[in-house]
Amino acid sequence: MVGEKGTRVRDRPLYNLPIGRLREGGSREQGYDMPLEDDFSDIIKKARTGLKLSVGDVARMTGLPGADVTALERGDKLRDSAELRTVSKALGLRLSALEGIVLQKWVPRPLPMMPGIETVRGEIGGYAVKGYILHDGGEAVLVDTAYNAEMMIEILEARRLRLVGICLTHGHADHAEGIQEIMQRWPVPVYLGPEDITLLHWKPSGQQLERPSHGKKIRVGRLEVKCLVTPGHTPGGICYRVDMPWGAVSFVGDTLFAGSIGRSNPAQLYHTHLESVRRQVLTLPPDCLLLPGHGPGTTVGEELEQNPFYTTN
Ligand SMILES: [Fe+2]
Repeated sequence: MVGEKGTRVRDRPLYNLPIGRLREGGSREQGYDMPLEDDFSDIIKKARTGLKLSVGDVARMTGLPGADVTALERGDKLRDSAELRTVSKALGLRLSALEGIVLQKWVPRPLPMMPGIETVRGEIGGYAVKGYILHDGGEAVLVDTAYNAEMMIEILEARRLRLVGICLTHGHADHAEGIQEIMQRWPVPVYLGPEDITLLHWKPSGQQLERPSHGKKIRVGRLEVKCLVTPGHTPGGICYRVDMPWGAVSFVGDTLFAGSIGRSNPAQLYHTHLESVRRQVLTLPPDCLLLPGHGPGTTVGEELEQNPFYTTN
């Protein structure tokens, strides 16, 4: 099973939430103890591997012993702010954002109520994942399965929603597994970047697969979901933007996490990934909610300030 963290079982506790649905009638993440998906060690390791630097390279660039770089990637504490500065410079990360995460323990503001959106949580190998049901006028699309097709089906049936499509942000198992069970009940189109089709364990037929072009629109009741081609976390990554009556939302999968990004996979996509974040996600309106596949939701405005991978140069 390949998830965002590979097969590693997380050593931090899962979110303080039961598996399943967060809340009826529009989910709200407020009040739940949802830490950032990535800490400093995750962030620097993603940047180093994305830049194709070895631990030795970073040691040479920073003047730190290689063992210290390894220790930081293992989660050891930084010695001082000078160390933070030198590591952030070597890895091209934004210092002020890293300071926010490491020193000020920044977390995004709790999201408002989101009528028309249900958050569904699942887990794979002890690793939490989120998917969403977007609905209007009795119609619904899923954005990823959250590795919890059972709960997706239960909610759709309980609320008598007619599924009209499955929007996959990418092809990793923790986001896509379970489409077979869902499609047995509703034989709907699956939207997925064509480069990610090989990642699926079970593949829909050619007619069932829709390959979204940039800007393609999917109708759900009175809503229009706009596909944004955002390669980087995977080659076929797609984000889905929708203007709800109460504001803009973008489902970003593992393209962006609050205060971080998903691992660029393969690593050669790192710069493409950063471009997708910069040009397709963080150019959305500042108050646009960003709903990722892992960790808390956030907003464009906060990520422009607090995401260490977002730099203007
Ligand atoms: Fe992923």
